[in-house]
Amino acid sequence: MKTRTYLGALVVAVAALSFASGPAWAGIASTKHNLGSSSTSGNNKTADTGYICVFCHTPHGSDTSAPVPLWNRVLGSQGAAYNTYASLGTSTLDSKQAAIGSVSLACLSCHDGTQAMDVMINAPGSGGYNATGTDAGFNWTGSSVNAGGTITAGITLIGTDLRNDHPIGTQYAGGGYTSTTPAPTSGNDPDFNAAKNTTIGSTLVWWVDTSTGVNGTREKTDMILYSRPSTDFAGGGTTEPSVECASCHDPHTSANPTFLRTSNVGSAVCLACHNK
Ligand code: HEC
Ligand code: HEC
Ligand code: HEC
Ligand code: HEC
Repeated sequence: MKTRTYLGALVVAVAALSFASGPAWAGIASTKHNLGSSSTSGNNKTADTGYICVFCHTPHGSDTSAPVPLWNRVLGSQGAAYNTYASLGTSTLDSKQAAIGSVSLACLSCHDGTQAMDVMINAPGSGGYNATGTDAGFNWTGSSVNAGGTITAGITLIGTDLRNDHPIGTQYAGGGYTSTTPAPTSGNDPDFNAAKNTTIGSTLVWWVDTSTGVNGTREKTDMILYSRPSTDFAGGGTTEPSVECASCHDPHTSANPTFLRTSNVGSAVCLACHNK
């Protein structure tokens, strides 16, 4: 059930986002997320396939328990134990933090350094399917990857200790936004700009407008909030918006440096959410 809700939301999201306007589109082929032989980023890559999407998505046989669309990696078997920002016990933190999950887990399946990037369910070409996900055995080159394809060094190795990273899997603005009160008038933290919401089809979605489009319309350049069940935050029975890796980053575009959804000049990424 949970998976269907997530997938439904994302499929609807695709439809909604594809009509949005924004800065000139710079496609994934020219980014560091092109890990195949056509990569021009000069970073980690393999010469063993020319496919791009395959490291993350597959058209058939995807992991249906993954909270990301048509995911080609098995997330459940990661077994990584993450240290969270909340465990620092910062006294100013208002928002509850859930266990690491949602789309963040998909990012961390490469960026935590525990799994090779060519571990996939449906490897390129005929006969490459293995439900539990196997290592395709590609050879890798690059400064922060080992020959087996695991990210081993540098700032892109986020690791499993997330205490030194911006909180993820966290309620927006101290909580208060739920599917029964999508736009609360009180109860949430005034240090944050209000999250917007709309219903697309039958799916409720939340986001925070960025300065490139303060218009109440959800666009790729906005900070996307990902719906998680309230039980993830020890609430009950509803869904809530959550800040995840892909709230700030769009893994498909280099329109802005480091896959950011909007330019961070003037710290616009931070100021979209934080009312500082
Ligand atoms: C490095 C991993 C990665 C690669 C490579 C990748 N994607 Fe994605 N993709 C993701 C993640 C993570 C999400 C879910 C997060 C989100 O909603 O943006 C996603 C979401 C999507 C979505 C639904 C949401 C949206 O933004 O439209 C589509 C469609 C999609 N990807 C298509 C593609 C295609 C086509 C390719 C190859 C040309 C590709 N992706 C390559 C990681 C990747
Ligand atoms: C299939 C593996 C894989 C997945 C999944 C993946 N990444 Fe990456 N990512 C990489 C690799 C490889 C690099 C390049 C590392 C390097 O060059 O040192 C990279 C680089 C990056 C960078 C740095 C870009 C730059 O210009 O320096 C960011 C930011 C990033 N990824 C964010 C994400 C986010 C957010 C997600 C999830 C939405 C994600 N990645 C999912 C493999 C992955
Ligand atoms: C609240 C917004 C936000 C969230 C959430 C977030 N990031 Fe970032 N991330 C940024 C910004 C902004 C930068 C650029 C920092 C800079 O320019 O020095 C960045 C940089 C990075 C880089 C380094 C790029 C480089 O080469 O310096 C990686 C890798 C990365 N993010 C991955 C992730 C992953 C994986 C997650 C989830 C675990 C995540 N980010 C969550 C905002 C965010
Ligand atoms: C998508 C919305 C969003 C964006 C974008 C964002 N943040 Fe946050 N940030 C949050 C939320 C939610 C929390 C949890 C805050 C809380 O509970 O007090 C948080 C927490 C923090 C904290 C820790 C607060 C504490 O009390 O421990 C700092 C510092 C912070 N963010 C700085 C930044 C910076 C710097 C940027 C830009 C690089 C940024 N944030 C971008 C939503 C966001």
